[in-house]
Amino acid sequence: MRTLNDIRSTFLSYFEKQGHEVVDSSPLVPRNDPTLMFTNSGMVQFKNLFTGVEHRDYKRATTAQKCVRAGGKHNDLDNVGYTARHHTFFEMLGNFSFGDYFKDNAIDFAWNLITRDLGIDKSRLLVTVYHTDDEAAEIWKKVAGLSDDRIIRIPTSDNFWQMGSTGPCGPCTEIFYDHGEQHWGGPPGTPEEDGDRFVEIWNLVFMQYEQFEDGSRKELAAQSIDTGMGIERVAALLQGTNDNYATDLMRSLIEASADASNTDPDGPGKTHHRVIADHLRSTSFLMADGVMPSNDGRGYVLRRIMRRAMRHAHLLGVKDPLMYRLVPALVQQMGAAYPELGRAQALIQETLKLEETRFKQTLDRGLRLLDDELSGLPEDAALPGAAAFKLYDTFGFPLDLTQDALREQGRTVDVDGFDAAMAEQKAKARAAWSGSGEAADATVWFDVADASGATDFLGYDTETAEGQIVALVQDGALVKEAGQGQTVHIALNQTPFYAESGGQVGDTGIIRTETGVARVNDTRKTAGVFVHMATVTEGKILSGAAAELKVDHSRRSAIRANHSATHLLHEALRRALGDHVAQRGSLNADDRLRFDFSHTRALTLDELRSVEDEVNAYIRQNAPVETRIMTPDDARGIGAQALFGEKYGDEVRVVSMGVDPNSGKGGNGATYSLELCGGTHVRQTGDIGVFVTLGDSASSAGVRRIEALTGADAFRYLSAQDHCLAEVASTLKAQAADVPDRVRALLDERKALSNEVAQLRRELAMAGGGQAEPQARQVNGVALVAQVLSGVTGKDLPALIDEHKARIGSGAVLLIADAGGKAAVAAGLTSDLTDKFSAVDLVKAAVMELGGKGGGGRPDMAQGGGRDVENADAAIAAAEKVLEG
Ligand code: ALA
Repeated sequence: MRTLNDIRSTFLSYFEKQGHEVVDSSPLVPRNDPTLMFTNSGMVQFKNLFTGVEHRDYKRATTAQKCVRAGGKHNDLDNVGYTARHHTFFEMLGNFSFGDYFKDNAIDFAWNLITRDLGIDKSRLLVTVYHTDDEAAEIWKKVAGLSDDRIIRIPTSDNFWQMGSTGPCGPCTEIFYDHGEQHWGGPPGTPEEDGDRFVEIWNLVFMQYEQFEDGSRKELAAQSIDTGMGIERVAALLQGTNDNYATDLMRSLIEASADASNTDPDGPGKTHHRVIADHLRSTSFLMADGVMPSNDGRGYVLRRIMRRAMRHAHLLGVKDPLMYRLVPALVQQMGAAYPELGRAQALIQETLKLEETRFKQTLDRGLRLLDDELSGLPEDAALPGAAAFKLYDTFGFPLDLTQDALREQGRTVDVDGFDAAMAEQKAKARAAWSGSGEAADATVWFDVADASGATDFLGYDTETAEGQIVALVQDGALVKEAGQGQTVHIALNQTPFYAESGGQVGDTGIIRTETGVARVNDTRKTAGVFVHMATVTEGKILSGAAAELKVDHSRRSAIRANHSATHLLHEALRRALGDHVAQRGSLNADDRLRFDFSHTRALTLDELRSVEDEVNAYIRQNAPVETRIMTPDDARGIGAQALFGEKYGDEVRVVSMGVDPNSGKGGNGATYSLELCGGTHVRQTGDIGVFVTLGDSASSAGVRRIEALTGADAFRYLSAQDHCLAEVASTLKAQAADVPDRVRALLDERKALSNEVAQLRRELAMAGGGQAEPQARQVNGVALVAQVLSGVTGKDLPALIDEHKARIGSGAVLLIADAGGKAAVAAGLTSDLTDKFSAVDLVKAAVMELGGKGGGGRPDMAQGGGRDVENADAAIAAAEKVLEG
């Protein structure tokens, strides 16, 4: 049997042999298309090569492309499970020529591959061409020898392929397989064409034109080829069936579902198994490409698909979550061709389990409510919109899930009523918000959110993407355009720009459109809309335009490194200081990080150093940084650090990094840092480079603050410190390592020298400083030594007084130091005189004359000072007066 995996590799190696580059499937979230919800064909990643905007070093390529058609224009969700060929996820095999070969080769390659390499019976094949494309019809005749009746001319858009309302397009030719008379249906172009007998297997598009918004069309500079073969359909016919769900790959998933639910794969639950098998593929692949369930945009489409599958699992009578148990079967089938699936397996399983566990809690009650509602309705009446809305709002039933549930009973939903109920709820939410006192300016963003929905954030996975401008705002009002030099706030349907939150600063970068360029200086978020605060630097920016978005890469890399380092720092602090350490604030900017945490005293140098060492050890560990989604309770259950007092939604993003080798079960190590966080992070801790703290300070009562640097900034800082040390060492003529000892020795030496200088000064003063030794004179029977000294300071005076006192045995001493225009004065009395006089009085009297104030000390020794050293004689006279009584 030709398995699906066989067919894929046969296709790719066939075209590789024909000189085609084998290119990986692009992600399901298109990076280069602003309006496309999911990649829905092989050519999406090559769009700009066809229009000539982009060039690569190959002109031929071949791919097996993952595609999702659910949500948006191509929505097959409603039919999946009930038909033989509808899928939300499928693979498109394709070969592409970018201005290289054209119709001849394309038809020749295709015909040879299917009839020779894949061995499909020629007599069962027929083709269609665009009605005016005689050239293609001729080539078919020549290459395949098909008779005219098997080359069907189709005049409709079925044979003119367009990617969307704009972009590359051209006539196409389609190859059909006739499954035989036992199936109902007619050839293409007949009223019975939608039957199961004639099935299109391959579409070859002759890319020739580019379509523009205004309806005009331009001939492409280079004629190109884009083809798409549905691998599931080809596998079906090669395996002798026309039911895609009977092929080996889909069958193995159906059997996994039957096993896990202990039911018959072909019994009454057949449809449920088919839904589950299909939805398992789309949901798993979407998560592997970074889409996570949410209440908006792509994340909501994912959730709708999941919940649809989960209701079908419920209908199989399964009590426990089922979907996540099927992931290993999928990885076994498709993991080799798409390694991203294996890499994300744990994340996919956990997320499916979480979603299913939570949805189960309301599913039963919702279904009961639905039964109650229906029991009161006439036989085939539609379910009122209000009831469908209640199911949505209270029980988490997406509208299409309710529709799917009613389909089995041949009923529908009043969709207008549902929309009206939804609009009413939005209006209420908005009224509540506008009373909450936020800036009136922000109301405009609520209008934008109502009209265009929340912005889809792509920035966890990419820094460049295309988006469509959904609103331009100046001074709080919507505008149609903004010209050069103007500032403008820009909203897009999707963006890689991170909007400031959780301490992480907003991204900066460039928005480029056909008519102009804007520089984004900051990005903020209001009402779920990402607001790009920009200045138009070239031309003008128009509302509605498609735009190329580019985040400043080096700045974002530095922000990421700082944010991840903050997580490591948080954990290192907690381990070093205790569990009371909780985050109280943080800043993750491009040039530094700041972390505030609860702790009452300053960190010692040793503590700070060991925290810094530990962070750097985890950086060197270079462990992958992982992100998962879970309930806040589960996250706390596994020990995730949450922000104190922060409100979390139903689901949280958990970022983990590092492995602590000293803990964990079985000596395998346990995750080091686990935090709830919506920010952007490095892929591996090694990307942080190096971490250095700039010290710890008090932020507020009981809160410490550490500032730190990472990466190139940390390196520059350390290098500057090193240069400074080298300069000190060279000045000291010492080795850097000896600098601390040398500095200590210098300080000791300095202290010894200054003591020596003081001593010498005193000795000099006692020796009269070159003046005659002062003689004591008698004042009122008291021996008084009074002297004006230069070359000494106030500090030297007490010691000099003591020496004079010792010399005269009994008496008073008054010394005035002439210290650079200021006067210091000290007085002393020998102890036999202190009951009659006080040195304090002598000093106070002298100070008055010296133009100072106060003075004080003990009766035997007092000091003071003044400005007017030239009044020293008067000061001595005033002191004598005190002794005279
Ligand atoms: N792009 C073409 C398609 O999707 C091949 O059918």
